[in-house]
Amino acid sequence: MEFSEVVARRHSVRDFTDQPVDRQDLVEIVRTAQKAPSWANSQPWRVRIATGQTLARIKELHAARVASGEQGHTEFPVMPRTEWSTAAQANMADLFNQISVHFADEPESFGASQGLLFNAQAIVYLTIPVGSSLWSIHDLGAFSALIALAAFDRGLGAINAYELVKYPDIVREVMGIGEEETLAIGLALGHPAGNPLGDFAPTRQDVEDILTIAE
Ligand SMILES: Cc1cc2nc3c(=O)[nH]c(=O)nc-3n(C[C@H](O)[C@H](O)[C@H](O)COP(=O)(O)O)c2cc1C
Repeated sequence: MEFSEVVARRHSVRDFTDQPVDRQDLVEIVRTAQKAPSWANSQPWRVRIATGQTLARIKELHAARVASGEQGHTEFPVMPRTEWSTAAQANMADLFNQISVHFADEPESFGASQGLLFNAQAIVYLTIPVGSSLWSIHDLGAFSALIALAAFDRGLGAINAYELVKYPDIVREVMGIGEEETLAIGLALGHPAGNPLGDFAPTRQDVEDILTIAE
């Protein structure tokens, strides 16, 4: 697929079929993401992927926590929405409007998909060393964007999600992540389900709103 088409058509997928993801696809997706730029080529990321029985165990533990009503507590702190910039708050409000329109016929499905970990067939967990430079967080963003794009290029869907790392102790225990690493984010992968959860693609603000070109 043309690069421009991959970028234009990629969107987050929130429901996957039961078809497993090919192991070789996982390796190639990560190999592609390794092309991301990083501070002095430091490549601060580490990648762990849960599939099969390992992922089934994580889903089971996650569902039990959701059912118990436990709040999420990601290792990257979450800032209250009211503390974000006015523009960011407006964009978030716009997303929630688009969600309510897109899921008008089944309003519960969006929330329910989260607790089910989107029926992911593979979850990619990204870590960086504890005490990393802010630049490593910048670099990890580039790395995770390339994972989502590489997955789409291979006919797969993906979503970066807070939901996947909101109970980090579960992921740490099942995936064997030590104290020297911070669990930053997870990406769910799989073959997109042909339903509103699979095809929701929110719009972006006008480029003129964020761009200044000085001549
Ligand atoms: C760091 C991060 C965390 C996210 N967490 C969630 C999440 O927990 N649940 C969810 O449904 N979407 C989550 N998203 C997906 C965003 O809502 C989505 O990227 C955004 O609305 C833009 O839509 P698009 O990816 O379809 O283009 C997350 C995205 C990022 C980058």
